[in-house]
Amino acid sequence: MNKRLKGKNIIITGASGGIGEQMALKIAENGGNLALIARRGHLLEELKQKVENSYQSKVNIYPLDIAKYDEIPGVFQTILNDFGDIHGLINNAGFGVFKEAHEAPFSEVKGMFEVNVLGLMAATGAILPHMRERGSGHIVNIASQAGKFATPKSSAYSASKHAVLGYTNSLRMEAERYGVNVTAVNPGPIATDFFSIADESGTYVKNVEKWMLDPRFVAEKVVDSMFTRKREINLPVWMNAGSVVYQLFPSFVEKVGNKLFFKK
Ligand SMILES: NC(=O)c1ccc[n+]([C@@H]2O[C@H](COP(=O)([O-])OP(=O)(O)OC[C@H]3O[C@@H](n4cnc5c(N)ncnc54)[C@H](OP(=O)(O)O)[C@@H]3O)[C@@H](O)[C@H]2O)c1
Repeated sequence: MNKRLKGKNIIITGASGGIGEQMALKIAENGGNLALIARRGHLLEELKQKVENSYQSKVNIYPLDIAKYDEIPGVFQTILNDFGDIHGLINNAGFGVFKEAHEAPFSEVKGMFEVNVLGLMAATGAILPHMRERGSGHIVNIASQAGKFATPKSSAYSASKHAVLGYTNSLRMEAERYGVNVTAVNPGPIATDFFSIADESGTYVKNVEKWMLDPRFVAEKVVDSMFTRKREINLPVWMNAGSVVYQLFPSFVEKVGNKLFFKK
């Protein structure tokens, strides 16, 4: 049992599946309470039942499309009224489409930025004044290794996750001054439904399947870091090493890795 989580009220966006669902289960296992957001309300309802059957946590669900920014302040105010205090926000809702820039319809590019970047910023903006007033809190932004190390066939997705990391790094320095922790999470491929949209042809999944992370493992790492001052979580370790080498020697990595990256 992680004592830091006990009695904490935590919002998770994108909680209807994948790592969002696993993080919710992990938080409940450790005594935290949950405000769950996603579009598919019936899946949130199923998760709520599952949590309530096994744990003592309070769980409320708030079906919402995070790309509808105008609705975020109202929903977050309702959450604050329902819970009193909010201690943590995990900005996890997101999707990717793995296409080359010349074949990606602009509507998809825009959609990725609306959910991955602008939705995340709007959600953060809706809870920061409350955390600032309390002088404590934790914001966790789920970015990606694609935000550290751009590879072909995912230019728009990579760009959206680079934006998340830029925002997160700036926010961390600002929020430290009023007692709020900020963590970026950069996973490599995780075995979730993410790829049903990202990789319609199945080629990428076929090529990287053996290296895919278990969503429960990722969730555990994230939840273990909550209410600590962890700066970044990078998984898996070998992929993080690759992104460090890329930052040091970008031309070399692009030249040597190009053929391999196109296996996506
Ligand atoms: N899987 C990977 O390989 C991988 C690697 C690195 C980073 N990530 C990141 O990890 C996060 C979670 O992905 P996952 O792998 O768990 O994928 P997933 O299983 O597809 O889950 C994505 C979650 O985001 C929600 N979501 C998507 N669009 C939304 C919207 N407009 N409004 C509200 N919720 C929305 C989905 O719920 P609804 O459809 O019900 O709205 C779902 O709960 C994403 O930010 C993704 O970019 C994933």
